[in-house]
Amino acid sequence: MATIRIYGDPILRKKAQTVTKFDDELKEFVKQMKVDMYENDGVGLAAPQVGRSICLAVVDATAGEQEPIVFINPEIYYCSNEKEDAEEGCLSVPNITLPVKRPASISVRAYDEEGKKFTMENLDGLWARAIQHELDHLEGILFVDRASPVHRQLISGKLKKLAKSHRDSSKSE
Ligand code: NI
Repeated sequence: MATIRIYGDPILRKKAQTVTKFDDELKEFVKQMKVDMYENDGVGLAAPQVGRSICLAVVDATAGEQEPIVFINPEIYYCSNEKEDAEEGCLSVPNITLPVKRPASISVRAYDEEGKKFTMENLDGLWARAIQHELDHLEGILFVDRASPVHRQLISGKLKKLAKSHRDSSKSE
């Protein structure tokens, strides 16, 4: 099982690299990401969260009722003007949830692990939210960045502690 990178780890702040090789190694990596996502009870997981800075994320908003969808080099090409507030959390920011405002509906295109292009149109609810959250990871953005200033203020102490424990643990390595 991969170690989930935690807030304070610089990889979570990097812009991820475009995937150019759709080979067996990538397929193996995707398989492992799905396992890691379920083992951690995540709705989604982005590659930087398991230590690889590439444009790849897996999402399953059905709680295991279907295979997770693999998004490689994804692009959101439509966002509704209508926005929605909902509570979010992240495996990389443990024990913190905050309301985040995001477009209610999106359309996205991406490649799967075979290198096949696909689109998903007018997604809403948890799918829209989870995909936006995971794609943010590929830009080095975390959900806490999108919370309101008041909410960010409320958790700033917790975030500092997370970042500090990351610094302490990397010193002792
Ligand atoms: Ni996340």
